[in-house]
Amino acid sequence: MEIKAIRGFNDILPGEIGRWQFVEKTVREVFEGFGFSEIRIPVLERTELFARGIGEATDIVEKEMYTFTDRSGNSLTLRPEATASMARAYLEHQLHTFDPVAKLYFMGPMFRYERPQKGRYRQFHQIDAEVFGVHNPVVDAEVIIMLIQFLKKVGLEQLELQINSLGCRECRPQYREKLKSFLEKKSFQLCEDCQRRLQTNPLRIFDCKVDDCKQTILGAPQVTDYLCTACVNHFEGVKEYLSMAGLTYVLNPRMVRGLDYYTRTAFEVVSYDLGSQNAVTGGGRYDNLFQEIGGVDIPGIGFAVGMERLISLLPRDKGLVRYPDLFIATLGEDTKREAYRLANQLHLEGLRAEFDYEGKSLKSQMRRADKLKASYTLILGGDEMKRGKAVLRNMADKSQEDIPMDELAGTLKTKLLSH
Ligand code: HAM
Repeated sequence: MEIKAIRGFNDILPGEIGRWQFVEKTVREVFEGFGFSEIRIPVLERTELFARGIGEATDIVEKEMYTFTDRSGNSLTLRPEATASMARAYLEHQLHTFDPVAKLYFMGPMFRYERPQKGRYRQFHQIDAEVFGVHNPVVDAEVIIMLIQFLKKVGLEQLELQINSLGCRECRPQYREKLKSFLEKKSFQLCEDCQRRLQTNPLRIFDCKVDDCKQTILGAPQVTDYLCTACVNHFEGVKEYLSMAGLTYVLNPRMVRGLDYYTRTAFEVVSYDLGSQNAVTGGGRYDNLFQEIGGVDIPGIGFAVGMERLISLLPRDKGLVRYPDLFIATLGEDTKREAYRLANQLHLEGLRAEFDYEGKSLKSQMRRADKLKASYTLILGGDEMKRGKAVLRNMADKSQEDIPMDELAGTLKTKLLSH
């Protein structure tokens, strides 16, 4: 029986990989320019890290984690996100002793047992950036600016930045109570999940997709009306720094984000081309996460971009795959040896060259050169080779010329540059 990939787990094929590589390259360029360094974290962590970090009463921890017990009886989980792991790594390796401010980025697969549909997968990829160690709102703005700069650089235009403040340990409990008592009066209108959320985590009800719940929560009290003075000042700071940088934003007091670690600033960048899965990226501040996982008081802020969603929005011409610069067509065993020698030399010069391995007819080699979309084909006949020459064919305009073989690399480079 043919074995297929698991539902919600995708292959990324050679035809698509150019777009991924283009995005990854742009991440490195933009993020490193802002002083971020790459970190790589394991795929598996102790379940406890996510349960405590993301929050027991979130959808992710309640029902979306890939959790299993290993042969030694430890409960392990495939990472559903990167923030908690990055914070763990920062603490474990005492990165704060090098510099109290750490700016880190990461790219890689995440795993959530969600119902697969377009834009929602069980293995998906995130680009993640985090700053640890800064309370000041200037860094919230800087992180958002980096994100927008990155999204623009990859070619996205139709975007909306939404921001909110979710308050802190001081003021959120009051808001939570207000929201709860508002919803309790209408609890009979809520779905079964939200009836439960009302007791465990009423803010989650804002994210429910059930129509009755969406209707019920309309008119609910807004978190920004219950912020303490310190949170108001912090949020004002974020807005002021965003405006100073000329960024426009929309205030969305109903945006609560799906993870429990957030405090104060929360933001999302939404694309209206994406249908229902319209969040390309989300993030925010989490000043209590380090308390939860390590008992230390270190603030943090960051975001994650969903790579599949981002790539589905890229303009068509971005990140195309690299086609061969040259296909060397040969006639017989001797010329194949010469093609092999030439290709090795061209590879050293950084050119992409292909040749026929199997002794196919010239016609089928030319067909293959066409299919591979080679820019040029070099036709190596026995006679020309003896004279140290070969025919170079421009595959776009079909023009041909004789060129000396020892000038091949130089000639090709000049031609490819003038393309
Ligand atoms: P999140 O909102 O859960 O945040 O995920 C961030 C992004 O990952 C989403 O906006 C979406 O583009 C993508 N994403 C999430 N789930 C899926 C899925 N099942 N299939 C495809 N794409 C998906 C976080 O993960 C936080 N750790 C972000 C953060 C970093 N906050 C602070 N620092």
